[in-house]
Amino acid sequence: MKEKFVIDLVTDEEFMGYFMVKQIALKVGSNRKTYLDITLGDNTGEISGKKWDVSDEEYASLSRYSVGDVIKVQARVTEWNGMQQLRISKIRMTGAEDGIDLRDYIKAAPEDPEEMFAYIRERAGEINDSGLRQLCLMNLDDNKEKLLYYPAASKNHHAERSGLLWHIKRMLMSGIALCDVYTFLDKDWVVTGVILHDIEKLTEIESDKNGISEGYSFEGMMLGHIVQGVKLLEKQMEELGFDYEKKIMVEHMILAHHNEPDYGSPKRPLFPEAQLLHHLDDMDAKMYDMEDALKSTRPGEFSDRVWTLHNRRLYKMKDGE
Ligand SMILES: [Fe+2]
Ligand SMILES: [Fe+2]
Repeated sequence: MKEKFVIDLVTDEEFMGYFMVKQIALKVGSNRKTYLDITLGDNTGEISGKKWDVSDEEYASLSRYSVGDVIKVQARVTEWNGMQQLRISKIRMTGAEDGIDLRDYIKAAPEDPEEMFAYIRERAGEINDSGLRQLCLMNLDDNKEKLLYYPAASKNHHAERSGLLWHIKRMLMSGIALCDVYTFLDKDWVVTGVILHDIEKLTEIESDKNGISEGYSFEGMMLGHIVQGVKLLEKQMEELGFDYEKKIMVEHMILAHHNEPDYGSPKRPLFPEAQLLHHLDDMDAKMYDMEDALKSTRPGEFSDRVWTLHNRRLYKMKDGE
């Protein structure tokens, strides 16, 4: 039975507990000794850990562990650079006798995937331009099975079951609302951009049905979802008979959504709907990371450092009196 969750860990305490392996690697330190570099997690969060001086015997058993396994550890909670970390002393595999309930370990988006999919599909169905509508519906319907569980990242923002749908849904809600503020925007293009911008995350990232990712596919490593997306959509748009300008504009939206070369976009957005798509994407990722970091922070205290937010430590407001 799981008693200790990541959110309950207190610095300096020594404890025993069950966690799911999120990432695992055996590495060699500067002292030439082998150590285990591991990320453990449950449905309340993740924490990285180290086990130093791994013996040859241990090496053989540890190399059989993989992402998604639930293990039992004995460890001390240390703090390094403002982040909690585990110093693991004992580690073992679990079995049926440990009474593992997978729901304790899997992080998932807060809404029902079928409902999120239905919301997104409805917005796609409302696109006036028939080519854009067809393109969106086709990609949603062809990928429905994967979309229902896929995470939007292997780490960081929306790295959870159905995280990609959650990301698309909230971006759509924000984007549609902003079309009422910036009335010169063409909603068809905003909706299309949101629905398609990360569609190739489905092949960039590898994920099991619990939304747990072991990392990137070969294509994902070498090309990434932006280039993969442009390639995929170009083919589809040719088949659908898109005219030249429309085809290039859709490709540009995908290409420019990360806004700068350092983040994978070779071009900055060159029309307003593409610019808005970038802001929606960026805003949703940051809001997600903030909400997530504060979930494991006590009122009146600062969070751990958040790597994706320039290593900031966020403050959680005290409860109102
Ligand atoms: Fe993206
Ligand atoms: Fe995105």
